Amino acid sequence: MDFAQLAALTGGHAEARAIQTAVKLGLFDSLGHGPRDASELATSLKVDRRAIAVLADAMTALGLLVKTAGHYDLTDVSRRFLLKSSAEYLGGLILFDDAFFETWVHLEQTIRTGAPARTLDMFQNKPEETARFIRAMDSLTRARGDAQFVAERLDLREIPIVADLGGGPGTYVAAMLRRWPHLRAAIFDLPATLDVARTILAEREPDIAPRIDLIPLNYLKVELPQGCGAIFMSNIIHSEDEPTNVDLMRKCFRALNSGGIVIVKDHIMNEDLTEPKAGAIFSLYLLLATRGRDYSFGEVSEWLSGAGFVDIRLETLPSPPFTSSMVIARKP
Ligand SMILES: C[S@@+](CC[C@H](N)C(=O)[O-])C[C@H]1O[C@@H](n2cnc3c(N)ncnc32)[C@H](O)[C@@H]1O
Repeated sequence: MDFAQLAALTGGHAEARAIQTAVKLGLFDSLGHGPRDASELATSLKVDRRAIAVLADAMTALGLLVKTAGHYDLTDVSRRFLLKSSAEYLGGLILFDDAFFETWVHLEQTIRTGAPARTLDMFQNKPEETARFIRAMDSLTRARGDAQFVAERLDLREIPIVADLGGGPGTYVAAMLRRWPHLRAAIFDLPATLDVARTILAEREPDIAPRIDLIPLNYLKVELPQGCGAIFMSNIIHSEDEPTNVDLMRKCFRALNSGGIVIVKDHIMNEDLTEPKAGAIFSLYLLLATRGRDYSFGEVSEWLSGAGFVDIRLETLPSPPFTSSMVIARKP
């Protein structure tokens, strides 16, 4: 690493903060119908003219806007990922990161004490927080394309019903149901999350929503409903500690039909827990907000084989753009 790379890393919060603020203020959306100068931006966004010019210049420097004769316009990337109207809008995640920013301030204290920096409520206590969290998952998955990739990669032709444990917005099951027309799905999740999922599915997937059952449950407290051919869980184990994950794999084993499969999708780390880089950094977020961290293939395999699963294998998604893998195992 050279000085320039180090300096870019140490100052990276400024870029992130600036982009979050631009999205929150609606800077990109305000350019959705054509270029504007700083005065027009200030009027339409009801902000200070000098300040919005500085922010727009910074976005131009980052390659998210272009500036021609004092007028700002979108780039291909901002049009694709930062416009609310785009199917690949990443704004849900960016707005979640914006709201989460104040939690990062407590990282030092969390490292000193080992205690999370916020209540471990999975963002269930306030409807606006639940919606922001679940829309963040939806937006990341859609923008990066994970759901389509997974739906293509998994062979679900023999599976009548797939359960998505902690399925959140339903982005994954929606893609699976589109790819596999015979398939039905159930999302097992907490009630406040399911309220958001219901809204998203009704808005965006009205044709397939009737094939998806939304089942409220707390997987920490109850057994999973029996009779599934496959249980998919994406970004679940990383929020939980090791004993909980051991227990969760046993619950999946008991719930699956014989011959059924479990698919654990997450950042699956090397045994040193240092790669992939995105997973090592994301573990800091998990330290702040959950009981978990990103786990290695060895750790996940041990939980699965301890529960009775066989044929445990790792499928790493191509990077870039993906940063995660699937651990797939079968109930004999
Ligand atoms: C990080 S999100 C992942 C959402 C989705 N699987 C994805 O990858 O986009 C974690 C999900 O697990 C759900 N969840 C967390 N704790 C849970 C629990 N104890 N019982 C059921 N669902 C839970 C949350 O509501 C949320 O939908």
